[in-house]
Amino acid sequence: MPAMVMSNAGPGGAKKFEGRITIYVVICGIIAATGGLMFGYDIGISGGVTSMDDFLEEFFPVVYERKHKAKEDNYCKFDNQNLQLFTSSLYLAALVASFVASKICTKHGRRLTMQAASVFFLVGVILNAAAVNIAMLIIGRILLGVGVGFANQAVPLFLSEIAPVHIRGALNILFQLDVTIGIFVANIVNYLVSNIHPWGWRLALGLAGVPATMLCLGSMVIAETPTSLIEREMLMEGLAMLKKIRGTDNVDAEYEEILHACEMARQVKQPFKNLMKRSSRPQLVIAIVMQVFQQFTGINAIMFYAPVLFQTIGFKNDASLLSAVITGIVNVLSTVVSVVLVDKVGRRFLLLEACGQMLITQVAIGGILLVNLKATNDLGHGVAVWVVVLVCLFVSSFAWSWGPLGWLIPSETFPLATRTAGYAFAVSSNMLFTFVIAQAFLSMMCHLRAGIFFFFGAWIVVMGLFVIFLLPETKNVPIDEMIEKVWKQHWFWKRFMDEEEDKKHSV
Ligand code: BGC
Repeated sequence: MPAMVMSNAGPGGAKKFEGRITIYVVICGIIAATGGLMFGYDIGISGGVTSMDDFLEEFFPVVYERKHKAKEDNYCKFDNQNLQLFTSSLYLAALVASFVASKICTKHGRRLTMQAASVFFLVGVILNAAAVNIAMLIIGRILLGVGVGFANQAVPLFLSEIAPVHIRGALNILFQLDVTIGIFVANIVNYLVSNIHPWGWRLALGLAGVPATMLCLGSMVIAETPTSLIEREMLMEGLAMLKKIRGTDNVDAEYEEILHACEMARQVKQPFKNLMKRSSRPQLVIAIVMQVFQQFTGINAIMFYAPVLFQTIGFKNDASLLSAVITGIVNVLSTVVSVVLVDKVGRRFLLLEACGQMLITQVAIGGILLVNLKATNDLGHGVAVWVVVLVCLFVSSFAWSWGPLGWLIPSETFPLATRTAGYAFAVSSNMLFTFVIAQAFLSMMCHLRAGIFFFFGAWIVVMGLFVIFLLPETKNVPIDEMIEKVWKQHWFWKRFMDEEEDKKHSV
């Protein structure tokens, strides 16, 4: 289906980018997105593993004892810093790794960064599955984290750069779709292996090797992005690749634009320093804030700890793992909604709708727990089922909004000169706040009790206001025209785009 992409470009006047959605671009997208499977599998697996008795007995005997004491406080039975460190160490490692990855991405390309990601990840998997002490577990998690940091840096950028503008949102969301599939598969694995004693948890951790192997093999066959090739002065290869992924020889306009972006980027010797300039502030703020807000929706309280959470409200082991499977499938299906809608209704609409839906469900869950769940009772089956339904409604709205758009918007908003550096801030902010939630949620639940859901609710109000006033729409804007068409037009952010002012304020 040939498509002529029209864009009323900035200073250069109207531009036409010609290009089809080629099979080649779709295949490259699908393969690269498997990086999301690794990330998702990790998110989903740790909650299940940390609720398995064999695992707890071997590595966290204190938690095991406490969990089985009938009188232990509902909200506190899993509150253990070491146990949380098992989940969260991965994200700390990913945080640091994303900065290293940003340099590798610029110097050696998106593809090599993905390959490196899969290798780190595979070594981490081996250590984890073979762990005989906490050190092996944690070091394994750290290596997984490095893999995730590398993949999360390279994959969304790769997808945004190869995509024709009118399906950039949809193609980029393949990453998030794979994240949700990874989580879902992990939920099923948790459910299936929980009755394999005593080594089911080893199988659960070891199967993370499957997506990593897929990315490792896949990244050998996919293309490098034209932008990355041109950026590294491989002009002919870049042009040839652009023709190949667009399925036409008529790519001059797009090629010129990438070339121009690369020339600008080349003048910037220190991307990180450049990022601190006044004129980079809008993109930087948006990239960081999108990720911080994404985590403060409270999604990972559910993704990591759904089995634990469902046990807290009184489900038995199997039922709680099964409920996590249900939320997992809702997550996947709702992400498909986003793939279909994001380039049609736009980013802002999805984010705002979701804020409303998430707020209502968080407050409802908080209210139900406040009234019904005391320190040592169970919720009662009927009420517990309602909580699962509300969790599903919450997850669905996250899945078509803040989940995918938290990654999409930062990947499409920076000019090439600061793209990988800026995106590294986005990835690391995500990891930092994922770490905070992973490390703190079980303790917060122990102290705030049902109030934890009102805490997240309050954040959702803040993020809704942010979208209304400060988030510009980026739907259908070519990636290298964001400055002219988005930032210089925005009522608030345009004041940062004045080059003279920039010089005055630069250090
Ligand atoms: C977030 C993860 C989250 C996942 C849920 C991702 O976009 O970054 O933290 O667990 O979505 O699907």
